[in-house]
Amino acid sequence: MVDAVVWDIGYLVSAALFILGIKKLSSPKTAPQGNRLGAYGMLLAVLVTMAKMHSEGIIGIELIAGGLAVGTIIGVWMATKVEMTGMPELVALFNGFGGGASALVGLSEVLKRIHESEIPEPGVELYATWIAIGLSGLVGWLTLTGSLMAMGKLKGGFYIPLTKKDDRGRRKWVNFPTWGPPWLNFVKCGLLAGSFALIWLTIQEPENTDYIYALAGASGLLGVLFVLPIGGADMPVVVSLLNSMSGIAAAFTGFVIGNNVLIIAGSMVGAAGLILTFIMCKAMNRTLPAVLFKSFGGGGKETVTRTKVGSDPEEVAMVCDGISKCVIIPGYGMAVSQAQHAVKEFADLLEAQDVEVSYGIHPVAGRMPGHMNVLLAEANVPYEQLIEMDEINSELPECDVALVIGANDTVNPVARSGEGPLGGMPIIDADKAGVVVIIKRSLSVGYAGVDNDLFFEDKTMMLFGDGKKMMNELNAAFKDL
Ligand code: TAP
Repeated sequence: MVDAVVWDIGYLVSAALFILGIKKLSSPKTAPQGNRLGAYGMLLAVLVTMAKMHSEGIIGIELIAGGLAVGTIIGVWMATKVEMTGMPELVALFNGFGGGASALVGLSEVLKRIHESEIPEPGVELYATWIAIGLSGLVGWLTLTGSLMAMGKLKGGFYIPLTKKDDRGRRKWVNFPTWGPPWLNFVKCGLLAGSFALIWLTIQEPENTDYIYALAGASGLLGVLFVLPIGGADMPVVVSLLNSMSGIAAAFTGFVIGNNVLIIAGSMVGAAGLILTFIMCKAMNRTLPAVLFKSFGGGGKETVTRTKVGSDPEEVAMVCDGISKCVIIPGYGMAVSQAQHAVKEFADLLEAQDVEVSYGIHPVAGRMPGHMNVLLAEANVPYEQLIEMDEINSELPECDVALVIGANDTVNPVARSGEGPLGGMPIIDADKAGVVVIIKRSLSVGYAGVDNDLFFEDKTMMLFGDGKKMMNELNAAFKDL
């Protein structure tokens, strides 16, 4: 009895930490503190759950210690090993694991109840419990397979360990195509309806495990088919939707096993993820059904046949000398090359000459929400200089130089045409600036696989090379002026 109160107090404190943490995430200044509070809340929830399970004799101390040790080692290893460019894939993987864990807990709970003949009599309790179990399975398995697909797409393919190595000693990567013929939507709707029918059947025959395994198979397949047609500018929306679904699955599972903190934390992740999904949809000028049921896709990669003579850092430094306003537009290539510190140094050099410098941040620049903000904060760029897309677009016509570092899709004017994978996506109007300087290694396409006319405009200077290397050379040339 005393124990039950202690566990409830522990869960209450951890739920309060989650709520405080998420509140603090709303501002970049307090976000690190919010992150820490959320992590402490999760640690407390895990410890309370372990202690509760031990005291109730559900699990021995050896298994608890073993599970904690294995989980901690893998978690620390992944967190320290991951490169900044690999974060989006890791986030997708964690979403998937969250969904998979919820589905497994739901599955073990239903198997336990069947095994121990604890199936409620037909009535409200049976309906409520079995619907919650079914939904935690449906959403959980779907999130697991969908997130694994999303992770593979963000990574650019899947590694096949058994294939032969090529001459450079690398094994084969298999790219999953962005493929979605219109009839696939009927298959997806059929699988969704079939999954609901299976949940209904589990209630009619609660002891029949075939329906439960069939539900796992159908929802797993549904996850794959949902993500398969999605590519290009729609991936950010899907990743945040999967994030939300991992929370929803956890909330259902909390309901199944009567765990309040899981219900609270799961609902918060679900709600926050849904809000982010709608923010992403708005930023991409899409509706959620359009993302899920129309394949904007990435199509094949366009082949660049045009050429453009590159500029050198000295030329660009001379152009930047004596200007009054510069907008820096970072993209995925800045993350790849880790050029943020060199970019900040360039901004400092300009500011020393009284140039007004700001950063234009596209909501989906990079590969995860807030990717550019995190990198620039790491380089101590003041938050006030990070300007959102709409605001920076109103300033760009008065801007002397737009320095685009590793961005491509997010500044591609073809989006205005409304056609193709980027069609309708709002962009940062770099092309409205007096001179556009673009730092990237080649004329090749960005994530959505679409050729970019901005590279070929007369006012555009291409600085070909690795982002960090070119920024360092530009800084050196600027200092030499
Ligand atoms: P992208 O369109 O992906 O273009 C990045 C560019 O960086 C590439 O064209 C590449 O050109 C260049 N690059 C790569 N490595 C580089 C290096 N070491 N040094 C310099 N440049 C390098 O980037 P973006 O403008 O940030 O757009 C983001 C895209 O990702 C959007 O389509 C978005 O929808 C998608 N996406 C975003 C998210 C989120 S949530 N942000 C999630 C999934 C997908 P080179 O190869 O010629 O160097």
